[in-house]
Amino acid sequence: MRLENVGLRYGRGPEILRDIDVALAPGSFHFLTGASGAGKTSLLKLLYLAHPPSRGLLTLFGQDATLAARDDKVEMRRRIGVVFQEFRLLNHLTVFDNVALPLRVAGRAHDDYAEDVSDLLRWVGLGEHMHAFPPTLSGGEQQRVAIARAVVVRPDLLLADEPTGNVDPEMGARLMRLFMEMNRRGTAVVVATHDPELVRTVEAPSLRLHDGRLERTRTT
Ligand SMILES: Nc1ncnc2c1ncn2[C@@H]1O[C@H](COP(=O)(O)OP(=O)(O)O)[C@@H](O)[C@H]1O
Ligand SMILES: [Mg+2]
Repeated sequence: MRLENVGLRYGRGPEILRDIDVALAPGSFHFLTGASGAGKTSLLKLLYLAHPPSRGLLTLFGQDATLAARDDKVEMRRRIGVVFQEFRLLNHLTVFDNVALPLRVAGRAHDDYAEDVSDLLRWVGLGEHMHAFPPTLSGGEQQRVAIARAVVVRPDLLLADEPTGNVDPEMGARLMRLFMEMNRRGTAVVVATHDPELVRTVEAPSLRLHDGRLERTRTT
């Protein structure tokens, strides 16, 4: 994954991301930090191909993502797990079915994935809520459903936007352990956060957005 000389503006507004040059190696782990409004979510959305850059080059999985055909983009997105700040859960499906959906879409059979999905839901503390519907859950619980759904396919790239924003520190640490375990198994992880405390929990490089530009900093 690579961004070269990337800029992003919304409509005719100013460039909110400028001259972004960064490579994310397969299997790497990065924090993406910066104040609220710095452009963290916008950068993650670029990587998820939700928005094209206004200028520059975006390469995903060795392929030019800005010039890719629609089908190729769909294929690239399949390799990416995302946790957005708005969780985008399907309210008419149970917690279990929300998490299992990407596996069903990929053609896996219920008997084949049921145990994995249950194990994962227990790990994120939702063992008691597998058959509940999202609107009956708290914000923190919904966030964990979204995280489980993002990791269940073992994506090549995981993009998590403020993934611990709605949970207590203990659950936050648990979720970070889940991301590290994914990372250990080969998933490249980017965790966007404005919380310096969270950054201290994992020894990983931080990419800091400031004034539209990306600065690489060491972890403290
Ligand atoms: N869809 C959009 N249209 C116009 N401006 C946007 C849009 N999304 C974000 N912005 C603006 O871009 C800037 C960066 O926002 P964002 O990427 O959400 O930052 P962060 O996630 O770091 O808080 C902010 O000034 C925000 O108002
Ligand atoms: Mg944001």
